[in-house]
Amino acid sequence: MKLRTIENIDVRGKYVLLRDDFNVQIVDGKITDPFRIEQSMPTINALRDAGARIVIVAHRGRPKGTRNMEYTMAPIAEYMGIKLIPDCLDREFMSQMSDGDIVMLENVRFYPGEEQNDPTFAADLARGFDIFVNDAFAVSHRAHASTVGVAEILPSYAGKLLASEIEHLTAVMENPKRPLLSIVAGSKVSTKIGVLKALAKLSDTLIIGGALGTTFNFAQGGRVGNSLYEADQKDTALEILDYAHEHNCNVLLPLDKGVAKVFDRDAERTNKDFTEIEDDDVIIDAGERTTERDVDAIRNAKTVIWNGTVGMAEWQPTWSYGSFAIANAIAEQTRAGKLESIVGGGDTVAALEACGVKDDITYVSTGGGAFLEFIEGRTLPGIAILENK
Ligand code: 3PG
Repeated sequence: MKLRTIENIDVRGKYVLLRDDFNVQIVDGKITDPFRIEQSMPTINALRDAGARIVIVAHRGRPKGTRNMEYTMAPIAEYMGIKLIPDCLDREFMSQMSDGDIVMLENVRFYPGEEQNDPTFAADLARGFDIFVNDAFAVSHRAHASTVGVAEILPSYAGKLLASEIEHLTAVMENPKRPLLSIVAGSKVSTKIGVLKALAKLSDTLIIGGALGTTFNFAQGGRVGNSLYEADQKDTALEILDYAHEHNCNVLLPLDKGVAKVFDRDAERTNKDFTEIEDDDVIIDAGERTTERDVDAIRNAKTVIWNGTVGMAEWQPTWSYGSFAIANAIAEQTRAGKLESIVGGGDTVAALEACGVKDDITYVSTGGGAFLEFIEGRTLPGIAILENK
């Protein structure tokens, strides 16, 4: 994929509309993890140093086209020490900008035209700008006005983060060191069918864990008690297993589980084999045998792709056992130079952060849904439009 990038373009004195993904969690007015913001800084700094007048456009949450101030960009603008422009379509401030100045527009999803990719809204958003730069890999799977609409109007380029995401993810998909192990977990089979098939085709071994794994166990006739799983995805799960078999991919499903009688972070944990699970048991984490086997699989791999925690990793320490063991094993092997590791998805990255091992991973993607769709081989509309034809 050949993208138009910001290398070698002259931006001095130019008005640059920069799309970033700053969809970060904010609790009590504080950003819980500034990872996406930090990863966006190289592009912002490069444009600033080159003398661009930068106006950042971004979103938070899903305010559905209404001005819901719960989702204001204000805490992010404050964190970055830049001015927030309350109306995305206001252009009066632009005449006050000097080369190297940076401001941020309010949440672009406050406008219904954003998610509809309404051409009039896109034209209004592009008004006054010379160049559009997309650095928001994490939202490039959405064909919105601020990802696709403006790129159809302005000369448009990929930022450094977006280019780096594509480079790293493409490298692992096209030429992985083998054996390649993929670990996919999370809650819904229905949202991960595509990526499970793509990874089954690509990988030597595929671990399916979390509630996703429970659905596969159920499909094979296993006991799942009162746990979260999708009964209606039984056939899909069996089809994915057949597909993996056809592609010589060894699938590892959960063997045992950490269970409780209630779905609660303070509930008492018992380790149970699938055959022992009772009707009132709730699965909350991977079991000990499963975790040991998964860690072994990581130690035997040369590349690992990981998306999705295998339990309630945020309920530490009782229910983070399985996910943290995976995070630590991946980090340990990567640190030792024995493994290339690629990790994506908000919860998964949060688990790495909680273990203090994020910096040990070869590449941590800022994408959640975009990461999955890219790995699946789908065309991401916000990226396709930046391709050099
Ligand atoms: C994300 O957080 O994955 C992106 O910002 C996309 O958000 P969305 O799923 O609300 O479109």
